[in-house]
Amino acid sequence: MDLVPVELFYEEYGQGFPVILLHGFPLNRTIWMPVVERLKGVARVITPDLRGHGKSPVTDGDYSMRLMAEDVHALMTRLDISKAILVGHSMAGYVSLAFARAYPGHLAGLAMIASQAEADSPERRQGRYIAAEEVGRKGVRSLVKGMLPRLTSRQDLAAELADIMMKTPKKGVIGALRGMAERPNALEWLSEIQVPTVVIAGEKDAIIPIERARTMTQMLVRSWLVEIQDAAHMPMLEAPQEVADALKQLLEMAEA
Ligand code: MLT
Repeated sequence: MDLVPVELFYEEYGQGFPVILLHGFPLNRTIWMPVVERLKGVARVITPDLRGHGKSPVTDGDYSMRLMAEDVHALMTRLDISKAILVGHSMAGYVSLAFARAYPGHLAGLAMIASQAEADSPERRQGRYIAAEEVGRKGVRSLVKGMLPRLTSRQDLAAELADIMMKTPKKGVIGALRGMAERPNALEWLSEIQVPTVVIAGEKDAIIPIERARTMTQMLVRSWLVEIQDAAHMPMLEAPQEVADALKQLLEMAEA
């Protein structure tokens, strides 16, 4: 496997223990701002754009979760960070699990937000390839239309989210879709993760059912679950205070 990292674009706030916030698909670092505001007083908060998203480089080919984890590791090396807390939203949860497996020594804590450890079912995988092909033909708008109502039921967030998604380059959307389709099942080795892990999930999530969060929490050795009643797939925007509180608790455990 050829794992050539790219230099991710990132922003940085505050001082203290490094906490890296990784956005889901097909979004960018700006979704974290309400959490950044609440966390930057107690931590060094870093918000990268993943490959093919936001202001980061766009490359050809499929973006495997392992490849995107390599990008995150390269960013940590660039910033001289030997250990960090990784916070992965949805697709970036898959990336964070790939990181945990490849670089356990560089991980101090983990947060999985609106994510899962399972691989795609054959139907879901097929659906991703079809969606990737459609985005290639019709553009990113074809994906946004179907996905937006499933991200959140909050009308006040819809315009901002649509705008973020529409800015994601077509090639990035296709690379990430194909990379997600190929990801392995991580359930089998979750128990190898030794760092404290918080699993955060919205009860109204229409993309990843909350049962996946419950299963993941049971399989992880040092984990706890935060279920948020009034959130769907975007808890960092729908319930930023709850998310920030959980991350502060994780920070205390990781630093201890
Ligand atoms: C995401 O929100 O990152 C993706 O929708 C996750 C997925 O499709 O599995």
